[in-house]
Amino acid sequence: MPNFKPQIPKIVDPEGVDLGIEPRPMGQTTDTTRAHQATETGGEPTVDFKGNTNPYIDYQSIDLLLSLQHPRSEAYDEMSFFVMGQVKEILFKGLHFELFNARARIQQDEIEDALMLLNRSKEFVQLLIKTWDVVATISAEGFNQFRDYLDEASGQLSFMYRHVEFVLGNKDEKLASAHKNVPHVWPHIKEALETPSLYDEVIAFLKRQGHEIEQEMLERDWSEPYPANESVEQAWFSIYQDPDTSNLLYQLGETLIDLDDAISQYRWRHFVLVAKTIGYKPGTGGSDGVGWLRHTAELRYFPELWSLRTRMG
Ligand code: HEM
Repeated sequence: MPNFKPQIPKIVDPEGVDLGIEPRPMGQTTDTTRAHQATETGGEPTVDFKGNTNPYIDYQSIDLLLSLQHPRSEAYDEMSFFVMGQVKEILFKGLHFELFNARARIQQDEIEDALMLLNRSKEFVQLLIKTWDVVATISAEGFNQFRDYLDEASGQLSFMYRHVEFVLGNKDEKLASAHKNVPHVWPHIKEALETPSLYDEVIAFLKRQGHEIEQEMLERDWSEPYPANESVEQAWFSIYQDPDTSNLLYQLGETLIDLDDAISQYRWRHFVLVAKTIGYKPGTGGSDGVGWLRHTAELRYFPELWSLRTRMG
């Protein structure tokens, strides 16, 4: 347990930060202007800029971004926890963007495009799994030094994580409702809850490809949890009779199960880490902690791709 106080390095003077969330005005360069600039500077990087900012800062509002890390306690480990929480939110956002667009490609029957985006999604998840390595360096004692300062904040209130869950198909009306009092977040969560997931769109695509899919899987209440279905498993079973890389549907099945596998490793890592850090204490978010989290470790988004394995031989 760190028994020393952190020293917080000064990086940005908050007084000077433009707090607007709109993209800041910027110009554009071209191959020609860049070649000209490199001649002007004699091949060295540009270091003279007009005004009180520079294009790197403005492109991604970096000074604003780097002003948002404000641990609440004097516990040494809180800064790492804080930074990793924000890193994860950004990675969830990147992952969700790819999954959201993969779903749109599947709706258009553009499976090769969808595969490209799903493969990138898998890389996002690998990065997310890796983030636990940093969080795992926080000992139980180190965490206890700042835990009270979380108030009732808990990852189960992450609306970005909820979007990832919903686009993949793990719908949960109750967990969604935690956001109903937040008017700038709730309508989008509600829409995500009620919209067919990526897997629902895969199933509709299998139907368009001539597989026999029961009607109840093509028209249902999309806000309900996904119900595993025999006709879907049968469709995958017939696709897996031709396990060749030239078979796009087979590739799709394998890519989806790899994604499911990776996310289950992410959830498992969190589950085990929580037990290591807080034992069997209740969570900050109102649950009984590891007891409640156990069900998340068992979840699979695409159940037929798993049950199918039992039939393969
Ligand atoms: C040592 C650090 C951590 C501990 C002890 C911990 C503990 C818990 C607990 C007990 C829960 C159950 C809900 C509740 O709070 O009652 C939970 C849920 C959750 N946590 Fe953590 N957590 C930790 C780190 C993180 C981090 C860094 C993130 C990512 C931002 C995260 C994301 C989540 C998510 C998304 C859920 C909800 C799971 C779901 O809805 O399926 N946790 N956490």
